[in-house]
Amino acid sequence: MEKLRHMMNPLDFSVEELEELFDLAGKIEKDLPGYSHKCDGKILATCFYEPSTRTRLSFETAMIRLGGQVIGFADANSSSAAKGESVADTIRVISCFADICAMRHPKEGAPMVAASKSTIPVINAGDGGHQHPTQTLTDLLTIRSLYGSLKNFTIGLCGDLKFGRTVHSLINALSRYEGIRFIFISPKELKVPDYITEMLRQKNIPYEEVIKLEEVIPQLDFLYMTRVQKERFFNEEDYIRLRNFYILDKEKMALAKEKMFILHPLPRVNEISVEIDDDPRAAYFKQVQYGMYVRMALILTLLGIK
Ligand code: CP
Repeated sequence: MEKLRHMMNPLDFSVEELEELFDLAGKIEKDLPGYSHKCDGKILATCFYEPSTRTRLSFETAMIRLGGQVIGFADANSSSAAKGESVADTIRVISCFADICAMRHPKEGAPMVAASKSTIPVINAGDGGHQHPTQTLTDLLTIRSLYGSLKNFTIGLCGDLKFGRTVHSLINALSRYEGIRFIFISPKELKVPDYITEMLRQKNIPYEEVIKLEEVIPQLDFLYMTRVQKERFFNEEDYIRLRNFYILDKEKMALAKEKMFILHPLPRVNEISVEIDDDPRAAYFKQVQYGMYVRMALILTLLGIK
């Protein structure tokens, strides 16, 4: 019997295991029909205690495209969490019904608690401001596909670097590859947390922190834009003051390299003007598609299906 394995953090997989996962995602992309019965008879549970469009629907589509079926809830209020059931009890119940579970929760560490009580693989689909590992897998696969490698580039991360869990997961994951230089672009209130800059210093990975996007955009190979995370602010006034701090428009893109790709985990609010969507460097909708392939590959891997 295969050892029970979860995905809580992108670092749960070694760089070599991630390469295998991305190779599998690449094979799936080229031959969707060849994978359409790999999960016949399997059930994915999506337990989402927080709103989502992409993550939940791409997990569900991934399982359906693999031939499996899906159960779950998209809102904590439509589950027994509304009656006070704990995450630990819920996952014990879900383990009786499904073969694998993707869980999103506003509390940091909740999917980890679930994993500790589960008899099926649990995937962290985003926990509070902490981690969003499958978004990171999506981002890494997108970068690898567009750039040809996960080494030797400069990436700018722009916007809400304090609360953006996709940012924290991505920096952690990229810190294992050679030749990556980070430029953090944020207002001072939304700077990347100290534990992350400390980790980069310890590993001698170059980074700088700036406020103005225009000053650094010409240096970038990738620009990872993020929305200001309204749901994690303690007061509305601060959110309103900071929400439109960055708006990527044609004027700023004119300063960027001809081959600088724009990524965004989405949803977008105002931080990328819609006038940029037709720019060949805008890769954020392609990124969504890679998200489905990599989730298909992850489901197969965690279920031990060859
Ligand atoms: N990128 C992402 O997590 O999007 P959703 O919140 O729509 O799932």
